[in-house]
Amino acid sequence: MSPAPMNPKTTSTAPGKIILFGEHAVVYGRPAIAVPVTQVHAQATVSASQSSSVAIDAADLSRRYTLRDASPDDPIATIVRLTCEKIGVEPRGFSVRIRSTIPVARGLGSGAAVSVATARAIAKSFGHELNREEISALAFEVEKLHHGTPSGIDNTVIAFEQPVYFIKGQPLETFRVARPFLVAIADTGIASPTKIAVGDVRRSWEADRVQYEARFDEIGEIAVQARQAIERGEVTSLGSLMLKNQELLKQIGVSSEQIEQVVDAAVGAGAEGAKLSGAGRGGNVIALVDEDSREYVVRAMKRAGAVRVIVTMIG
Ligand code: PMV
Repeated sequence: MSPAPMNPKTTSTAPGKIILFGEHAVVYGRPAIAVPVTQVHAQATVSASQSSSVAIDAADLSRRYTLRDASPDDPIATIVRLTCEKIGVEPRGFSVRIRSTIPVARGLGSGAAVSVATARAIAKSFGHELNREEISALAFEVEKLHHGTPSGIDNTVIAFEQPVYFIKGQPLETFRVARPFLVAIADTGIASPTKIAVGDVRRSWEADRVQYEARFDEIGEIAVQARQAIERGEVTSLGSLMLKNQELLKQIGVSSEQIEQVVDAAVGAGAEGAKLSGAGRGGNVIALVDEDSREYVVRAMKRAGAVRVIVTMIG
């Protein structure tokens, strides 16, 4: 069979993301809020080639290999195969080059962004327009390899590139940010695989369901209130909601000494609130800042150990 006609070269991108409220509880059916972060992104370039396989170049991840040699659970190989299957083309005769500025395993959605960018680029290069739901569904299959029991929030917010109010298994709700606000995102420098934190929470939940369900309820309620505050432009009330959410995340065992230090430093320097974002244990701490406090907060978070801090405008 001759290979399907394709564009010589196609590039697509996908942003990073942060979870503002509701991580972990979202795995147990509670709502969570996530937003795209466009300062960082993954990029996939698909080029036509004569190869009888697909050459994958993920130099940022220090990996170069072919689809044929990839292990069955390799995330990039999986999204290549799934996308080709979806659009009905043979996985051969092209190369995929991945570049990403999203730090890996820090709660910024690097895996989902690589999947989304790759699926978009492959589909586009063969002249197919997959919609956001279809792209998100493909990326979700790969999330399952990384995470075991993912809620689906990462692939959703990254494929839709809009603030999302997400409840697992329910139709997606995007929402409006009435008044833009600034969030400082501090990388603790500690990689924290989501699968491990999610697995630990599950074991604790199994050991004490009543207490964990109550905490998840409280976290879900915070996400509901946060959405209302964001839609009404009542931005400052998000600070206290962040601190309440952080306390509950600590109670379910996903904070750490390093995270607490960065949270305390941010609040001490004038942030309205701060919390871990993502799986916890390491990864990122986010802090609600304004134009006056941002400089001080960024400096304080770095002094407390953050290896880098970016400030992003939400909305
Ligand atoms: O991928 P991360 O590190 O942003 O964390 C995902 C958020 C969790 O709620 C902990 C897991 C999930 O699948 O929603």
